[in-house]
Amino acid sequence: MHILVIGGAGYIGSHVVKALLNRGMNVTVFDNLSTGTKINLFDNADFIEGDILKYEQILFAMKQNVDGIVLLAGKKAVGESMENPMKYAFNNINGVVNVLNAMVESGVNKAIFSSSAAVYGVPQYSPMDEEHPVNPMSFYGFTKHETERLLKWYDELKGIKFVSLRYFNAVGYDEQGDVKGLEENPQNLLPIVMEAAIGKRDKVKIFGNDYETRDGTCIRDYIHVTDLGSAHALALELLEKGGASQILNLGTSQGSSVLEMITKTQEVIGRPVPYEFAPRRAGDPAVVTAKADKAREILGWEAQHSDLDNIIRSTWNVYNKQ
Ligand code: UFG
Repeated sequence: MHILVIGGAGYIGSHVVKALLNRGMNVTVFDNLSTGTKINLFDNADFIEGDILKYEQILFAMKQNVDGIVLLAGKKAVGESMENPMKYAFNNINGVVNVLNAMVESGVNKAIFSSSAAVYGVPQYSPMDEEHPVNPMSFYGFTKHETERLLKWYDELKGIKFVSLRYFNAVGYDEQGDVKGLEENPQNLLPIVMEAAIGKRDKVKIFGNDYETRDGTCIRDYIHVTDLGSAHALALELLEKGGASQILNLGTSQGSSVLEMITKTQEVIGRPVPYEFAPRRAGDPAVVTAKADKAREILGWEAQHSDLDNIIRSTWNVYNKQ
């Protein structure tokens, strides 16, 4: 299978590319390098520099004998999406429409979409399964859900089969060290913890220690990007075999608190990570964890790299070299 990985030079995308190459697929990366980097490209994957907002560019890439696509390109900062919804509408909705139309025009009918737990909004129960009501709290989450709705219509009307993968908290780095690109100005917890560990920032601010959790800090479901990668490969194989469209959670159902992440990091790297307690961040639910039984049943997928030790060690191996 020849797969076009749109956004394949990014943090998650590059791990997906590696997983597809490992399963013997041919890969072409399509990326505008706005947040992705050439450092993340693999020698044995082709690369087309281009932008999903430019229809001719994505159409050109789609016409390179592509059997299926993985769509990761998009904006992903929850806070920014609330301040600048126009940017998110443009990139995450107009861009998706271009990709889908280019698929129809070039006869490509298999798509894996990088969705998010953000579609659910405030959890009414945890762990959340795919039947949990969808009620995004951010414009970012709204764009992810809109894409899923577009995919359903393009499936019904144009026969595009899709698997939408709702990631929980993506973390970790390739354990063989094949992905080295770091995100600039990271917004997520673990990169921030790493930057504090190497002295790139003073300390980690823990947003809230008065939540109703075991230590008062928020609990999230951290899933290693290598595990996300293997789910994409399995999802493509499912569609190749004629499987029906699916929406699947990807998480471990194990929650870790912010404080546990910091404590574990200190333990694994053998260095202090300075931190302080700060006020709650608006919009953070206390606990977000995934029920991922459906991905297990339908894809035969298991998270195999997502123990905290492994997540932290693989991330530290990249940050420690900075
Ligand atoms: N946190 C801190 N200090 C920081 C950064 C984060 O205490 O400097 C805390 C947050 O309050 C939260 C946890 O660490 O409790 C994880 O925060 P992240 O920002 O890393 O991740 P979120 O759970 O907020 O968001 C993630 C993805 C989003 C997605 C969301 C859906 O990054 O893309 O899950 O659940 F929308």
